[in-house]
Amino acid sequence: MVTTFTTRRRFLAALAGAGSAALGGSPWRRAAASAAADSAAQFTNRLRLPGSSGLYAVVLAKDLGQLMVGEMQFEVLPKVPSPFWAYAAEVAGSRVLNPTLLARPGDRVRLRMVNRLKQPTIIHWHGLTNDERNDGIGQYQVGPGRSFDYDFTVRDRAASYWYHPHPHDVAGEQAYRGLAGLLIVRDDDEARLARALDLAVGDTDIPLVIQDRSFSFEGKLEYKLTRDQMFMGFLGEEILVNLTPRPYLDAARRVYRFRILNGSNARSYDPHAAHAAGGLADGSEIPLLQINIRSSPDYKREIPSQLSRLPRLAPAAGEPRRFTLGHDGKSNWTINGWRFSTAHGTPVTVQRGARETWLLQNNRASMPHPMHIHGFQFRVLERRNSPDQIRAVATRSNGLMPQDFGMLDTVLVWPGESVRIALDFSHPFSGDQTYMFHCHNLEHEDTGMMIGYKVRA
Ligand code: C2O
Ligand code: CU
Ligand code: CU
Repeated sequence: MVTTFTTRRRFLAALAGAGSAALGGSPWRRAAASAAADSAAQFTNRLRLPGSSGLYAVVLAKDLGQLMVGEMQFEVLPKVPSPFWAYAAEVAGSRVLNPTLLARPGDRVRLRMVNRLKQPTIIHWHGLTNDERNDGIGQYQVGPGRSFDYDFTVRDRAASYWYHPHPHDVAGEQAYRGLAGLLIVRDDDEARLARALDLAVGDTDIPLVIQDRSFSFEGKLEYKLTRDQMFMGFLGEEILVNLTPRPYLDAARRVYRFRILNGSNARSYDPHAAHAAGGLADGSEIPLLQINIRSSPDYKREIPSQLSRLPRLAPAAGEPRRFTLGHDGKSNWTINGWRFSTAHGTPVTVQRGARETWLLQNNRASMPHPMHIHGFQFRVLERRNSPDQIRAVATRSNGLMPQDFGMLDTVLVWPGESVRIALDFSHPFSGDQTYMFHCHNLEHEDTGMMIGYKVRA
């Protein structure tokens, strides 16, 4: 890895002059050989950024009103129109696709989703605290030509959340074909940071949505899975950032904020700046984005030493609730031996207001599973039996990775690992609420690595 790093750095310096840096990623598997071979290709496409219209247009969530889920043509590869599925809306007379939604805690979002696909769909607001109906899961999917009305209040702290499809069995395909957008919640902490550093969304506060895609010979998005790919999860041959292949960003010498979202179906990344060593020893090195420093404005801001404060972590009583990640020997991943089926109902019940510890145990003969919990954000308490390359970057005696700090909605559980997480099931919703707990490898989710849990009021 260190060798690649040196080689690559020399290459980038040659390409863009002394003032360039790159964001690279190393997926955990070596299956990316073809993408890696591309690393010698030039970064010739300007990174698509949120703006006032078109893809990723910035819109206040409470003003949106309606989102159409439909199929259209879109040039993912330059000059090659490809069938593409998107969330579309009209805002002030112009069309926006997969809008970047902004919200503040307390905002009420009333929104109609209209399904113009030829299959059922539903929008899930990933990471948000919602009641089950507004959470948007398969139980609420609507068929072609139907619509679904959301009405919820944003309750969560500042973060980069996202929205994507969550129908039964085909979430992976729908997200792959284009359906995904960001929802950025901004609160007072966030406003203070933006003021301190002079940040603006789409300009110096930049979302980077990382997705791997494969293209047919004619350059159209392709999603065809063998049985094996269904089992491992889909890995695309090319890594896009903001749907831009081989992107570059012209920047100034000053502080930028990047909000990095792994919007891939199955691939894991370990993004880092090319001039910084580190990361996992596993996987291959793939350049993602080239940043060209074009100017040096007079900028003398400092990153505040404290960005925010986490809510206090109240201790849980009792034994942890155990979840074992494994497979059924027939190419299906399971949680506690279960494959998701609506016929199962909700195998897990927790009491509203309870504090619990969950223990997520991954089999040794397994793969990393990014486990995601709907309805409640959680904290990671401890990692045990981590593989060596994880232990090597762990920050403390309890084995945590740098990305384990903070409120999370997803935690990556490595083969052989036991991860303890803390959950507080307090929420303001009366009546029983059902949520999903699943692997966010979307092919795993679609093939049943998901379990429903009920919060009893
Ligand atoms: Cu982002 Cu249940 O999903
Ligand atoms: Cu979710
Ligand atoms: Cu998985």
